Amino acid sequence: MLRRLIAAAALLAAALTTTPATAAAAADAPLRDLAAARGVYLGTAVTGGKLTGGYADTAATQFDSITPGNEMKWDAVESVRGQFDWAGADRVVAFAEAHAQKVRGHTLVWHSQLPSWVNNGTWTADTLRTVMTDHVTTEVSRYKGRVDHWDVVNEPLNEDGTLRRSVFGATLGESYIADAFRAARAADPAAKLYVNDYSTDAIGAKSDGMYDLVKRLLAQGVPIDGVGFQAHLILGQVPASMEANLRRFADLGVDVAVTELDIRMTLPATAEKLDRQKSDYAAVMRACLAVTRCAGVTVWGFTDSDSWIPDFFPGEGAATLYDEGLNPKPAYAGVAGTLAPTTPPPAGVCSVTYTVTSQWAGGFTAQVTVRNTGTTALNGWTVRWAQPAGQRVAQAWNAAVTQTGEEVTATHLSYNATVPPGGSTAFGFNGTWTGSNPPPTAFTCA
Ligand code: G3I
Repeated sequence: MLRRLIAAAALLAAALTTTPATAAAAADAPLRDLAAARGVYLGTAVTGGKLTGGYADTAATQFDSITPGNEMKWDAVESVRGQFDWAGADRVVAFAEAHAQKVRGHTLVWHSQLPSWVNNGTWTADTLRTVMTDHVTTEVSRYKGRVDHWDVVNEPLNEDGTLRRSVFGATLGESYIADAFRAARAADPAAKLYVNDYSTDAIGAKSDGMYDLVKRLLAQGVPIDGVGFQAHLILGQVPASMEANLRRFADLGVDVAVTELDIRMTLPATAEKLDRQKSDYAAVMRACLAVTRCAGVTVWGFTDSDSWIPDFFPGEGAATLYDEGLNPKPAYAGVAGTLAPTTPPPAGVCSVTYTVTSQWAGGFTAQVTVRNTGTTALNGWTVRWAQPAGQRVAQAWNAAVTQTGEEVTATHLSYNATVPPGGSTAFGFNGTWTGSNPPPTAFTCA
């Protein structure tokens, strides 16, 4: 937290003195430097066996946190009970240490990539609990002081937010989660301990289930430090509620992190899709930066040649920051541009018009027009307002829109950031209402 405050102070100083030209130069800095200046880390999953040549250079230069994509999973380290093979994990940890990178340990207890001796064993609750805590204790002890974050429990929930009936959930109930965290804490008291899941990025049934789970664990005194949001996203579908969702977990008193970000598209990738992907990556980065307890963002592979997507979703891909030839894609600029220090535009340079263009029982569509009333071009804009009667933004277009309570924030996308003097641009959203649907009374625009 202190680190984040210091970095924020440094950034504020930079923002006050930075001209647009130096801001552009800053965006050319490696992502890890840009992230550090904002008080967050920018990590990547890697495949240990590929850590040579250009792949290794990019991983080392651009990222300040490394997650072994597979090498720390149970099937990789303990495929036979009590026999541990650390070769793959050691290699990735050594790489990270050689390049002053943090390590996110992934993952200790998960129903997948679990050896069949565990998955198909005949267990009593006591024997399975012992097998699990032995595994956790042995692996965390092995890397004591060398792994910053552990995904202690991965993917414990079903889509509806209930406990997944994995071998652990079915045999031990929810208590396995508490026991895994306690074993990890005892083995390395300094490591930050995370629970991690997918499809929890938006506010919804599954993230509600995770929210309730974390609350229960905290109430029981379970040593949980953070919640990981995998964020395996689909082009154009960054949830509008992502920032609010991260914030509500942070408000429970835990850290949050985006742990496995990728944004897939139907192939072939076109210039238009890649530009949309750039805005989507930027929107995720903004959501993390907006939440003080968001520790950082990890991408799940940094190059399209090392992504799980094409194997698991035939016909889809191009989900990462670099193409297969290790050339940065527009998404890279989206991340860099969001992390780069920027000069805020002077206040009072734009005006806002809000029009409800259609309304029906419980729902409505609004159009918001942003007009540049200044004498120089707007290079990026953000509009804020409060919804006065409990209206909720559901889905937006032509802007990245988030809502926390009644406060709504709308930010330009890459293609409509620039508004010339006297010009205007518009975005829209569908929302929900109950009782009445009055328009907001005031807007800020900068
Ligand atoms: O190790 C074997 C190798 O011996 C064999 O020759 C080869 C043939 O296909 O398979 C290799 O195993 C593959 C393994 O990755 C290591 O490369 C598996 O088939 C493949 O299914 C496995 O995929 C991994 C996947 O988890 C499995 O669930 C991906 O690489 C990995 O990126 C992915 O990561 C998960 C996170 O851990 C949790 N969240 C979701 C995320 C994406 O699925």
